[in-house]
Amino acid sequence: MGHRPKVLIHRAEIARTVRSLAGRIQADYAGKNPVLIGALKGCFVFMSDLVRALDIPLTVDFLGVFSYAAGTESSGTVRLLHDFRNPVQGRHVVVVEDIVDTGCTLAFILEHLKTKSPASIRVCALLDKPSRRRVPVSIDYLGFTVPNRFIVGYGLDFDEYFRNLPDLCVLEEDA
Ligand code: IMP
Ligand code: MG
Repeated sequence: MGHRPKVLIHRAEIARTVRSLAGRIQADYAGKNPVLIGALKGCFVFMSDLVRALDIPLTVDFLGVFSYAAGTESSGTVRLLHDFRNPVQGRHVVVVEDIVDTGCTLAFILEHLKTKSPASIRVCALLDKPSRRRVPVSIDYLGFTVPNRFIVGYGLDFDEYFRNLPDLCVLEEDA
């Protein structure tokens, strides 16, 4: 049985939303030289569009985190696969996430970052799936709220595939 992606949010709408998120971040972080820290791998497309829409001095770093065993169910346990490279002490950090689902991954990242004494931490997430939240987390810059469906495309995967789709899609099962 195969999976057919069906467009949920078109690339043009994504582009508009990314521009508007960037506008808000740019206004809030003027003169603050923020570091944007992306949670791999899902953030890589969003992150690349977001930073190119930001016209302020900033640096970029990545965290490797792992929460999904396989398929579509969250395991609830989060592991750090690789840490960011540069010190964040005294820096204004914006965590960039593709999607906040149970909240376990984001809560883990925030706890980890807090031990490194940054000047501030805020969260920018492209998607929020609030119906599945298990850990309360707050999102400062949010793109879209999505229903309880499994989303692929624009960096998000199902068993590592579909990350290259330009639109945000839901998977329909072939008959
Ligand atoms: P959480 O820890 O349950 O909040 O899950 C966060 C991570 O799980 C995200 O960063 C994604 O990598 C992945 N994830 C959660 N929901 C989806 C989805 O609908 N599609 C693809 N990946 C997802
Ligand atoms: Mg992710």
